[in-house]
Amino acid sequence: MGNLTDRFGRDHTYLRISVTERCNLRCTYCMPAQGIRLKPKTELLTYDEIERLAGILASLGVRKIRVTGGEPLVRSGIEQLCERLSVIKGIDMLAISTNGTLLEKKAKLLRNAGVENINISLDSLREDRFETITLRSGHADVLRGIESAINAGFPSIKINAVIIRGVNDDEIPDFIEFARALSISVRFIEYMPFPGNNWNESQFISFNEMKQRIEEKYSLTPLTRDEPVPGPAKEYQIGSSDATAGFITTMSEHFCGSCNRIRLTADGRLRTCLFAKDGVDLKRLLRAGAPREVIEDAIRSAVLLKWEKHPDPEELMTNQDREMTAIGG
Ligand code: GTP
Ligand code: 5AD
Ligand code: SF4
Repeated sequence: MGNLTDRFGRDHTYLRISVTERCNLRCTYCMPAQGIRLKPKTELLTYDEIERLAGILASLGVRKIRVTGGEPLVRSGIEQLCERLSVIKGIDMLAISTNGTLLEKKAKLLRNAGVENINISLDSLREDRFETITLRSGHADVLRGIESAINAGFPSIKINAVIIRGVNDDEIPDFIEFARALSISVRFIEYMPFPGNNWNESQFISFNEMKQRIEEKYSLTPLTRDEPVPGPAKEYQIGSSDATAGFITTMSEHFCGSCNRIRLTADGRLRTCLFAKDGVDLKRLLRAGAPREVIEDAIRSAVLLKWEKHPDPEELMTNQDREMTAIGG
């Protein structure tokens, strides 16, 4: 039993660090169109503080870090933070999730800073639709960002598409072709409810339906990944290509039983679930000069209190303290 094992025997080896609540897009499924109220800068963890907390969490058993946002590339010097995180003792894998709009210039810097695994959001291959979904321009930037990531030689590149009925579900086969053409991975994400995103059942498309639609044209062979810190996506090889399709089935088949994740928010709270209602304020402890053991105890206690699984959609839509964008997925 590790330091970060909870009451249900889940060992927490995967830390998602949100480095900013800001984002340069306004994806309708992620945040309210008017944006969210941003916390003052002084409330955000500095890079020194993030490094310190990541070091403590690594000493307790974290092995993989994924940097998220908002949009992480809007925070200046993000590659310098990545470099610092990648050399923390115990961290075997550094990853980042980005919307790709600022990636063209940053891809090589991030790769050189030790980032191995990059997930890039792209919900439509059509420029007009991209703009309808994100309420901003930038489609061509994302495509160039993906190309830069491929050229920078990341060992793992995944495209994330949240699939919403009547919005982009007709593009499922196009995404398969896109992945095949570039020999990368595409992940189809079930649309999740959050306060302010107007989720409704009729727009929801389940993993089973998405898979069936793909299998009308392509064969999907299940893959068992040999990753040191596995994620929740169900992965398949597309035909006999090098490309893969993954599905994130939060709503139809939750994967809470094997959850290995904890999250550090941009304002320094430790959240034990994406859908948690609040988090333990580690920033306060850090800034009050609390000794390392006190911070470690706070982390261990939070993990022990983690719930068994997330609640049903109705509750998720109303009963949370933050929008998705402020959590970082
Ligand atoms: P890897 O497994 O490390 O590749 O990352 P990931 O796929 O978990 O991360 P990414 O940031 O690409 O997120 C993809 C989707 O998974 C987003 O919709 C996230 O909100 C969702 N997701 C990430 N972590 C969790 C989680 O702990 N629980 C649930 N239900 N969804 C998650
Ligand atoms: N449902 C599913 N995925 C979401 N994301 C943001 N909001 C939602 C939602 N409501 C995804 C983004 C990005 C990842 C970090 O979280 O598309 O890929
Ligand atoms: Fe920004 Fe990502 Fe949310 Fe879109 S999904 S608004 S890119 S944080």
